[in-house]
Amino acid sequence: MVSRKANQNSHFLLLVLAFAILGVAHGEYLIGLGSYDMTGPAAQVNMMGYANMDQNSAGVHFRLRARTFIVADPSDQRSRFAFVNLDAGMASQLVTIKVLERLRSRYGTLYKEENLAISGIHTHAGPGGYLQYLLYHVTSLGFVQQSFDPLVNAIEQSIVQAHQNLKPGSIFINSGDVENAGINRSPSAYLFNPAEERARYPANVDKEMTLLKFVDGASVKSIGAFSWYATHGTSMSRDNKLISGDNKGAAARFFEDWFTSSESNSSSSVPTRSSIGKLIKKAISIKATGGKPCDNSTSRSFKVRKSDGSQFVGAFCQSNVGDVSPNVLGAFCTDSGKPCDFNHSSCHGDVTLCIGRGPGYPDEILSTKIIGERQSNKAVDLFMSATKELTGKIDYRHMYLNFSGLVVEINGGSKVRTCPAAVGPGFAAGTTDGPGMFGFQQGDTEINELWKRVRDLLKEPSQYQADCQKPKAVLLSSGEMFEPYAWAPAILPIQILRLGKLIILSVPGEFTTMAGRRLREAVKETLISNGGGEFDAETHIVIAGLTNTYSQYIATFEEYEQQRYEAASTLYGPHTLLAYIQQFNHLALAMAKGWGVLQPISWSPPDLSSKVLRLLADPFRDSLPKGKKFGDINQDVRKPEGGSFKTGDRPSAVFWSANPRNDLLTEGTFAVVEMLRGQQWIPVYDDDDFSLYFKWKLDNSSSYTSLATVEWEVPKEASSGVYRLRHFGSSKKEQDAPIEYFTGTSSAFTVS
Ligand SMILES: *[C@@H]1O[C@H](CO)[C@@H](O)[C@H](O)[C@H]1NC(C)=O
Ligand SMILES: *[C@@H]1O[C@H](CO)[C@@H](O)[C@H](O)[C@H]1NC(C)=O
Ligand SMILES: *[C@@H]1O[C@H](CO)[C@@H](O)[C@H](O)[C@H]1NC(C)=O
Ligand SMILES: *[C@@H]1O[C@H](CO)[C@@H](O)[C@H](O)[C@H]1NC(C)=O
Ligand SMILES: *[C@@H]1O[C@H](CO)[C@@H](O)[C@H](O)[C@H]1NC(C)=O
Repeated sequence: MVSRKANQNSHFLLLVLAFAILGVAHGEYLIGLGSYDMTGPAAQVNMMGYANMDQNSAGVHFRLRARTFIVADPSDQRSRFAFVNLDAGMASQLVTIKVLERLRSRYGTLYKEENLAISGIHTHAGPGGYLQYLLYHVTSLGFVQQSFDPLVNAIEQSIVQAHQNLKPGSIFINSGDVENAGINRSPSAYLFNPAEERARYPANVDKEMTLLKFVDGASVKSIGAFSWYATHGTSMSRDNKLISGDNKGAAARFFEDWFTSSESNSSSSVPTRSSIGKLIKKAISIKATGGKPCDNSTSRSFKVRKSDGSQFVGAFCQSNVGDVSPNVLGAFCTDSGKPCDFNHSSCHGDVTLCIGRGPGYPDEILSTKIIGERQSNKAVDLFMSATKELTGKIDYRHMYLNFSGLVVEINGGSKVRTCPAAVGPGFAAGTTDGPGMFGFQQGDTEINELWKRVRDLLKEPSQYQADCQKPKAVLLSSGEMFEPYAWAPAILPIQILRLGKLIILSVPGEFTTMAGRRLREAVKETLISNGGGEFDAETHIVIAGLTNTYSQYIATFEEYEQQRYEAASTLYGPHTLLAYIQQFNHLALAMAKGWGVLQPISWSPPDLSSKVLRLLADPFRDSLPKGKKFGDINQDVRKPEGGSFKTGDRPSAVFWSANPRNDLLTEGTFAVVEMLRGQQWIPVYDDDDFSLYFKWKLDNSSSYTSLATVEWEVPKEASSGVYRLRHFGSSKKEQDAPIEYFTGTSSAFTVS
């Protein structure tokens, strides 16, 4: 025994010596980060979130990414977890299932459902059809393989990058309030919560952002940051058709660019000395190139930001977002301009007239930017001032639950049950971020005879269900609908990840503000009172919303009484939240005590990929007017009076193009702004940039002829010089013909 200990000590000494001599980095954890393009089809695919049949993608504002961090214990590398943040509406059970299959074939059992979290930021501006339960792909005409594949692929690739990047390093945690980036959109429901409970909090939303800063142990350079903060991805409206990460995607773009520019603050070889007159003369002489063939990876070489696995990764993750709107000016009637009805969010009974206003109202792009900046700026503050280092164990617990009939013990030992999934009329009413249709209002607890008949054609709710869901009136008994396959999930995962004093609660839905607070507090108490000193008041708990799968909303029991949108979308009845708290407490107890989790085998979620309807047609072929080539100019840049564009102007060009669904140009770009430096054109903005828009539409002459607009809003940091716009695309002559790639540029113009 003694000798063994001495031996260990000498090993330890050797190790210390080795670190000292080689200067080998050390840190508390092994850390790896990764990021990969997950932008789905930029044309003709219904967007996920608003359930608006008319909201089909028609271009890209900026690209969507999957961003991952992996942490591992250097002394026990099986002790690890991976957290993936997706620029998507939400996680999807089927995506999770397929990612796990791919990870299993790469890494065996290193990554599994227990230690993998996939979380959605809740943008409502991404292509839909990647969820497997029927209710979530009605408006996308069923499952859309082309939306699904890039998600699975990007998650896998970002995990592979993070895995390959694993190196010793340190993690710092910080938190602080984000001001004016979220308001409660159901304040009347919040008021149903007990007064003494409400009195414990300064606001009816959680303002806190929690940030992790990852620092490489060898170079002592920051390699990334992940933050959690609750606000809806609904700065972009239900009428938007451009793919966008909404305010959180924007925050990530701004934050990563901030870091990169502060790192390499050198390269601005601006031709400041040339007079603008000379530049204009030069620009006039440079004409549009006309369409030219190129190959499948050309657009990648025009990317402004390199995505080779070594890039800094900044991610903005979602939290208890249920009742939090980014439309912080409040909701007003579009006819009268007055505030909407408080309890029903309607204007003389009509919900479609009651619309929330973002801070850039009526400009939703500006609102997205402002709410993005408020999060990004706070993250910069927290990042710069993060000094508290995380230390301690990496751990995780996970289990599946059958929410259709969980037994929940309430005070005094009496038992209640959750119900099969159902939504009420308030669900169809929508919210002030995106109202619904058919005359329903939030707070409705009655359904008229006509709608009852319509409902019963689909499925008449069982009496058990109707009673169980009260006071919700069952509009759609989705948990009792299995034809042609399940309309709603029954089996849901819950998960706790531990990184020292940070606890992440992965929830498969949108907890309201108060529901989230109750869950966090319950888990914290369980951990502290059972952890034998491992956990204390310093233990920091965050909720990772919309993680691993999706099951809509979770309101408190009291909020459920009012049946606004969030309550009407709380699928499993009035005791849904209590069931979560009870089951999370089980997981927390297991974690605190070091116990495993018993998991009934039958409770694993189904894989419906072979059953899902797929009614959206693939792109057929592309055609052109006589004498035109793909990439030819349809409408060149219109030069302004005075010859030069200024900050805020929008030079744009229209190209003869083809369906962007032919090739998503993953990690490539549909649009580029090039700047002339000497004799060379250098790409300076691409379709990952907030200032550059790629818009696509069918020409009105034929359903196979299309036009792409590249439009640039000259940002204030753009230097004076000669620029041009470039477009990339891909076309197909016939349905089964090979894909051909093309590019084309506008004529040159100047910015001064
Ligand atoms: C980088 O350069 C810009 C422009 O010159 C400046 O405003 C900014 O403060 C610099 N950032 C850092 C971190 O040095
Ligand atoms: C481009 O095409 C080649 C040959 O068909 C293929 O091997 C490669 O993976 C493709 N690259 C991209 C970026 O699609
Ligand atoms: C909203 O409803 C509550 C009760 O549910 C009622 O007390 C209150 O007066 C209503 N407020 C308005 C402005 O109608
Ligand atoms: C889930 O529970 C419901 C109701 O208790 C039951 O009908 C169903 O079979 C269960 N599903 C699974 C997969 O166990
Ligand atoms: C197509 O639209 C253009 C511009 O809006 C219009 O001038 C033209 O007449 C339209 N052509 C057809 C065939 O409708």
